[in-house]
Amino acid sequence: MAINLYIYIGVCMETNIIDFYNDKNGYNSCIEALKYGEIVVFPTETVYGIGANAIDKNAVLKIFDIKCREKDNPLIVHIADKEISKYAKNIGEGTYKLIEKFWPGPLTIILEKMEIIPYETTAGLETVALRMPNHQIALDLIKESGFPIAAPSANISGRPSATSAKRCFDDLNGKVNFIIDGSQSYIGLESTVISMVNDEGVILRPGHITINDIKSVIPNAKLYGRINDKFVKDKPISPGLKYKHYAPKGDMIILKSDFKNIALYIKDKQCFYKNIGVLCLRENYKFYYDFSKTLKNEIKIIVIGSRDNYLELSRNLFESIRKFDDLGCDFIVSECLCDDFSNAIMNRLLKAAAHNLITL
Ligand code: TXA
Ligand code: MG
Repeated sequence: MAINLYIYIGVCMETNIIDFYNDKNGYNSCIEALKYGEIVVFPTETVYGIGANAIDKNAVLKIFDIKCREKDNPLIVHIADKEISKYAKNIGEGTYKLIEKFWPGPLTIILEKMEIIPYETTAGLETVALRMPNHQIALDLIKESGFPIAAPSANISGRPSATSAKRCFDDLNGKVNFIIDGSQSYIGLESTVISMVNDEGVILRPGHITINDIKSVIPNAKLYGRINDKFVKDKPISPGLKYKHYAPKGDMIILKSDFKNIALYIKDKQCFYKNIGVLCLRENYKFYYDFSKTLKNEIKIIVIGSRDNYLELSRNLFESIRKFDDLGCDFIVSECLCDDFSNAIMNRLLKAAAHNLITL
């Protein structure tokens, strides 16, 4: 009822952050809310999700309204066990192998849907995206609610995904009743999405589980050719590819160059922008720190992590982009964090920068 009021007259509801470990009553209220077709934000190992009963079409539609999500962009259905035949059909050998190896974990599998999954959840598609997250709170929530939970990332559409309860609150305060706090997301980037329709193995979104990980199970698996396209205008194989993603408030660019050219570039941009941010590797921090002291307006430097620590980079990417917003940066220069553009970090970084990448 409260959420219906929000939709129709924009009433602001109270948003409670629930401490899973110390607030049993709060947690029970979350389960009740889900059972009543309401919305609960919860942690997973990848990013936070904004969840509702996946088999209740009215509950699912609320997610689209709250997130301002396009209705043709389907949701991932989160389950707490490996019994996918309740929700999907025509399941091939390869799918079972993937599930055996990677579930629970950051892998979402697209399959032909069973009737029980409403078209509101799949945005009209005949396929459903299934994932068993590797996070105790998420698994408990699904089990105790008694149904699968549809959940996209818990951000307003177009913004970076949220990797902490605080970031969910920033985007969703007044729009949801409950955010379960499960501290910082371990991986920080959304799951790998793979289509296993016809048992083919096409990766639609790169993630923590890489193409090579997948190939160890399905040797013929391939990356969908257009995962790094700016926008896929015609009907894409995965609707999410059509939309703007992860954008900070300021303009953003990725520079592939040496320090000297990056310094010249930033100096030049200070004629047009008041508050420039730099996203850099820890190894390069000192250069920007010293360089900043030579400028009339200091730059805001955020270290995303170390070059060889892939997990640190992935965990900090969205949080770093959101920090630039907190700092009021109107222009962000990111180092090119790695040369493999098909990996999840570069895929998200490119989208955040609206594909503005310059080699100097
Ligand atoms: O890690 C994750 O996957 C997180 C957590 C909360 O589980 N969820 C997430 O959801 O990232 P979302 O909605 O932000 O991204 C889901 C992506 C979208 O690009 C969507 O288009 C695609 O999966 N997708 C969902 N169902 C699909 C389907 N049936 N066919 C093709 N693509 C699908
Ligand atoms: Mg998302």
